[in-house]
This record gives sequence, structure tokens and C-alpha cells, in this order.
Amino acid sequence: MPDLEKKEEFAVDILGEESLDNIHHVNNPVLDVPAIEKNYLSQVRSYSKEGNAYVFTDGKAKVEVRIFSDEIIRVRLAPQGTFLDDFSYAVKTDLHLHPTSFSLEELEDAYLVKTAATTCRIQKDNFFISFGDTKGKTINRDHAPMHWEESPDFGGYYVYCTKEAQSDEAFFGLGDKSTNLNLRGRRFSNWNSDTYGFGFNQDPLYKTIPFYIGVTDSDAYGIFFDNTFKTFFDFAAEQNNQTSFWSEGGELQYYYIQGPLMMDVIKRYHELTGTHYMPPLWAIGYHQCRWSYYPEANVREVAEQFRKRSIPCDAIYLDIDYMDGYRCFTWNKRYFPDPKKMIADLAADGFKTVVMIDPGIKVDEDYWVFQEGKENKYFCRRGDDYFMEGYVWPGRCQFPDYTNPKVREWWGTLYEGLVEDGVAGVWNDMNEPAVFGRGTFPDDVRHHFDGIRGSHRKAHNVYGMQMVRSTYDGLKKLQKNKRPFTITRAAYAGTQRYSSVWTGDNIATWEHLRIGLLQLQRLSMSGLSFCGTDIGGFTGEPDGELYTRWMQFGVFSPFMRVHSAGDTRDREPWSFGPEWEAICKKFIELRYKLLPYIYTIFWRQHKYREPILRPISLLEQHKPKNLLREEEFGFGDQILVSPVINPGQTSKVVYLPEGSWYYYFGEKFFEGGQEHLIDTPLDEMPVFVKGGSVIPEYPVMQYTFEKNIDALKLNIYYGEGTHDSYVYIDHGETFAYEQSVYNEKHFIVECQNNVLSVRQHIEGLYNERFDTYKLYFFGLPAESKSVHVDGDTVAWSYDEEGTPYISVEKEFRKLIID
Ligand code: GLC
Repeated sequence: MPDLEKKEEFAVDILGEESLDNIHHVNNPVLDVPAIEKNYLSQVRSYSKEGNAYVFTDGKAKVEVRIFSDEIIRVRLAPQGTFLDDFSYAVKTDLHLHPTSFSLEELEDAYLVKTAATTCRIQKDNFFISFGDTKGKTINRDHAPMHWEESPDFGGYYVYCTKEAQSDEAFFGLGDKSTNLNLRGRRFSNWNSDTYGFGFNQDPLYKTIPFYIGVTDSDAYGIFFDNTFKTFFDFAAEQNNQTSFWSEGGELQYYYIQGPLMMDVIKRYHELTGTHYMPPLWAIGYHQCRWSYYPEANVREVAEQFRKRSIPCDAIYLDIDYMDGYRCFTWNKRYFPDPKKMIADLAADGFKTVVMIDPGIKVDEDYWVFQEGKENKYFCRRGDDYFMEGYVWPGRCQFPDYTNPKVREWWGTLYEGLVEDGVAGVWNDMNEPAVFGRGTFPDDVRHHFDGIRGSHRKAHNVYGMQMVRSTYDGLKKLQKNKRPFTITRAAYAGTQRYSSVWTGDNIATWEHLRIGLLQLQRLSMSGLSFCGTDIGGFTGEPDGELYTRWMQFGVFSPFMRVHSAGDTRDREPWSFGPEWEAICKKFIELRYKLLPYIYTIFWRQHKYREPILRPISLLEQHKPKNLLREEEFGFGDQILVSPVINPGQTSKVVYLPEGSWYYYFGEKFFEGGQEHLIDTPLDEMPVFVKGGSVIPEYPVMQYTFEKNIDALKLNIYYGEGTHDSYVYIDHGETFAYEQSVYNEKHFIVECQNNVLSVRQHIEGLYNERFDTYKLYFFGLPAESKSVHVDGDTVAWSYDEEGTPYISVEKEFRKLIID
């Protein structure tokens, strides 16, 4: 038994559950790597071509170099010459990737596999593999040939890849790691773990995203190590000039993704693993959660308070206490005598109801879910055929094997009753999977793994992903093709195709607000753009200031939900007194004003594979200093945010990228490409809009689609040069956008010599719900007075506050102000 497990068992026996945290802190499991004798690839003896791949061999071991596109090349190692099944939960099954061309060139000392953009070099005498551009520049190269170690306990191999780290190279990615954005100098492991109250630098956490980006100021590349076993990454930690990744099993199989920009790498990673589908519009509104709101009267009271205080809110969550003895898919009828009626009443008032579903199914012969699972052999079994049993909320439980397609299908149907009751969304938790006392399943638990079979060592990291996949598929069918809303705690690469994510059980401290800021930027760069933290902190008690500053950050978190543990004080936006309530209300209202902008950046994510949150390094990688900036981020393309993450802070230094910027809460103008000291009064935060942008705005509503919108407000910001903006609109509910039932407006703003012109192109088949635009202008030169729209002169109007705007037909083609 590994040391860590022994310590855990001992600690739980003697000291109780809480002691586990300390152990995880002190014993970073990545340091417990066994000393082992390794086998290395020797020299290339021959090669063969197989479709889009070349297979090289040293006589016994084989290496496949497969070309997916001009910029994506996959490398696989078969130590004994036989490759494992080519199967992945992460990579899309409907990949449409093709290289424009590729060829193999043999040199005296190497083979060159060339595409239109990338060269992969395989050195003959030592099997070193390197990647570069087509002009001969090397971007990433092996420091040692790929190597492996036989695993006597389990069969198979521990597999290793060691690459050179350049002296100025920074590293990004890996999902939810609670550390600085640049990963250089650190080691990580991936083993999905229930980490209640995790700390800064604690590792591993809930998710496994074995994808990283290496970047110098001029070149970025990505490595996606698609291996579901426990994996490890060392970013120049042990040796300053080396980066390694390795796994405790499975195949050494990685995708090299060429840049040169980080943005290119992320988009191409999305080509492989998919993007998030368009969420229903309500899912990006404000959500209120609590462990737990019950009984029914309490839920109704919270909902009423929102409406009474005119604080917008779209969803209310029911945590585990809505169930009967924590049995999934049941209701506690004492607390919720008529759930259908309650949910309908909430819906009539604009609230969607989201419920929690965990994987642990109570061992109870009288419980239909247990009966069905047992009858059909849907529950996981140990190596010697006993059921995998463990304690979670309901007591003794068995656990569905979601890696079995039949089980996924079944699980999806179980939501029928909840959907009939009117439940709108589902929250999957504890799916690392978490088991009280022992952490997770033992290694010998067997899994179907979609017919390939494997032990828990192989299936652990995809368990949660496959659970939420079946939830997503089930809801999609049951909700008649409406876009499902799901949220999951555990994830593997590619989970974005099925769900949003949150960062788990954080703490109500200023440090955790900062950790959340880092985690969400990192998740967004790692494919999981639809992400959020428990606003206010799950455990512990925030004061009004921390809660409010976190709410401000929440407005710019793709998923915006307040959540807290059961033993904490109230956490509704009004819980900290009128002063804080007013600020929270102002900021939740801001979320609703920005909804069309936020919806558009979700669209850009879905369709154009752009991450929603963009660290400064991603926006301007050509400035080395930017590779270390981590407090401000792009929220989409046109808004830059720098949340206040310290108590009592009255000002903050903010770096603004090149271009011109407008402070959102006043018309103050700032030059980009430099740092500025920005005042941070409690009721404001550093939010900037890029000059040249068109930012759509909705009127404040108490929930999405509360009212029809007659005129869409567009805020247009003067900025020298030519700029593109997009506004995406659809009916917010079904997948009709896949058949082009949407409206994508492309605005091209040109500003020169005090003249501003806006051109518009419209694409898609959707007819929006408003007739006109109201155009507001910011930063217009004082001289600009006359307005021409499609050749006609148009006059200024004035709104209730006396602010001038121009009212125009929504189909206008060209507007000029001079
Ligand atoms: C876990 C979840 C938390 C939830 C609790 C009870 O700790 O992370 O969000 O409230 O379980 O279900």
C-alpha cells in the first residue's frame, strides 16, 4: 500500500477526517515517485507509412507519428511493438481534422515529417523527437528519448517523456491547479480528489486536464498528454532545463500542438477536445445556492426576497437535503410535500430549479434505483467480483460504472421524474469519485471503459466526466432537445462538451478569492471556459467586504453562483447589511446588463474556440513581463478586468494591454501598453472597455426574458484604427443555432481623424425580439456632431437622464459621425 494511503488510514482512525488535509499538504504525493530502472528507446532502425502516420522502430519498440492537421501531430509509444486500442474519452469522435499535405524526408541523421506548418524531426541515432516550424526553427525538443518502466504489480508500463525547457520558457494550463498561472518550477499530479478546504499550491485537486502550453515571448506550443491514469508533470522543477510528464500506466501518447500564439494553441486544443455548447441563456444569469435550502418554505422565502429587493436571479439550487435520506432521484416529502407545485411557482416567478445528484447509490433493497442497478449489474465491482462499497452521504453505497455505455444510458433515464417535476438543471458532485474515509475507490475496482476494460487506475480520472456526460445526454433527451444545464466538480479533458464546472470547496478568505482568480483563468485556458467559484467561499465566514469583492469578481466569472456550506451564516446578497446589499445589487445588475455581451463570448467560445477568460500572457505573449502577470484578465475580447482581491484596498496597479481603454464606471480614458494606478472604491472595480468596441447592453431584468426588449442598446467606444465587434443573439433555449437559427452581427468600427464609422454585417436566420438600436457613444471627439446612417442624416435623441443617443434601424449598413 502506498505510504500516503497508509498515513490516511492511520490518521482517520486516530485523528478523524480533518487530519487528511494536513497529510495532503505535507505529503505532496508527486514527491513519492518510486526509484525505478528505465528502458529507453535506442536508435531508429526502420520506418513504415500507415495512412496519415509514420511508424518508426528501434527493432522492438515502436513510435507512431500521426498527422492530424498542419499544426497537430500525435506521438505514441509501444514499448513491445503493439499499440493499445486507439480510444479516447477526451478527443471528439467527430474530428474533422486533415493536414493540407504531409511528407517524409530522410536525412543522413534524421527523418523529417513535414506538414505545411510543422516539422517533426526524429533523430536516427538516439530517437530524440523535436518539433519546429517549416523554416528550421526548433520549438520543442526531447531531452531524453521516450522511456518506460515495467510495472510488476499491474502489468503495463510507467511511461515517461522528458523535454528541454528553455531558460525563458513559461508554462500554463493543467486545469484547476491552485497555484500561480506560470507553472514553471513546480511539479503536479493528476488524480481527481475531493479536497474540502484545499490550500494554495495543494495538489492534486478535483480535475485532470493533462494539457499545457509552453511559451517564450515569440513561440507557443501545446502538449496534450491524453492518458487517464495518474499522470505527473514537472515544469523545470527538478532540473531547471527539463520538463517531464509521465504516467503510472497506459500509453505514452501525446499531441504536439503548434502555435506560434498561445491563442492558436488553445483553439487547436479545442479542435481536438471540443468546446462547450451554447448554454441556455438563464444559465449565465446569477444563481443562488446553499447547502441546503430546505424546507420548501425556506426556498420560497429566499426567492421572494430576491424579487422583493429587486435583485436579479435566475436559478435557485437544492443541495442534498431535498432527497429522501440522500437517495438520488427521490424527494424528502416532509420538506418538499409537492415539489412539482413549488418548482412551478418558482418558475412563474422567473426561477429555474437546479438539483444535486451524486454517484453514491444507497444500498437499500427497497429503493428502486438500487434495485435496477443491482439487477442489471450496473454497479462497480472489485477485482474479485465483490461490489465496490463505500460510505458517502446516504451511508453504505454502491456506485454506477459510468464508463459502461449501458449504464450511462440508464442513468440518463433516471432523471425522468425530476424533469417531469420541472427541474431545469443538474449539479453532479462527489464524482472524483469521493468515498468517506478512504478518499476514493481502491485500485482493483474494475471498469467497462467502453468495452476496453480497465481497473480504477485507468478509469478514476474519467469517472466524473462520464457521469456528467450521461446526465447531459439524459437531460437532452428528456427536456426535448432543450440545451441542458449541468455542472460537475470532477472532470477530465473534454468535459466542456457536456458540462460547466466549479472549483469545489473553497474557503471564505481573501487568499481564496485570489486562488479563484487564478483557477478560473487557468481552467479557461485549459478548455473549461464555463467555470466558476463558490462566490463568498464555501466554508468559513466572509465579512461584507470579502463577500462583495467576490461578487464583483463573480460578475466576470463565466459561471456566477453564490454557494456556502451548511454550517455557515446566511449568504444571500442582503445578508451583510444594506451597504453591502446595495453594492451587490449594483453588480448583479451589471451582470444582467452585460448578458448579451457575455452570451456573445460564449458563442465565440463555442464557434470560434476562443477561451472566455484570457490572461494577459495570452493577450500579449510578445512581452516577457506579461508571462508573469496574473491579476487582470480579458473577459472576452473587449473588456478587461482586474478584481480587487485585498481587504481595505483603495487603489490598484492595473496593466492595460496595447490600445486605448475606457474605465467602465465613468468616461475616463487610459492609454494601453502600460500600468496605471486605479482607484478602487468599494462600489466600483477596475473594469475597462477597449476603444473601438461595440458593447451590447440589455436593460436590467429580474431574470432572463422577463421582458421583451424593444431596442437593443449598443455602447460604442471611440478608438483610433479599425476594430471588429460581434453581437450574438438567439432565442436562448434549443439547439436550433446548429441549423443557423441565430443572429450574429459583425460591427466594424473605424476611427480616424475624429471621424467614426460603423459598418454592420448580419449573419444567420434568427429574427430578434427588438426593432431598433439605441447607440450611445463614448470618447467621441468634441468636434463630432453630425450623424449619417446609410446616407441619411440622423438627429440625436435624449434618454430620461438626458444622455444623448442615436436611434437607428437595426439593419443599418453604415453609420458615420463626423
Ligand atoms: C460537497 C460539494 C458542496 C456541497 C456538499 C453537499 O462538499 O462540493 O458544494 O454543498 O458536498 O452536497
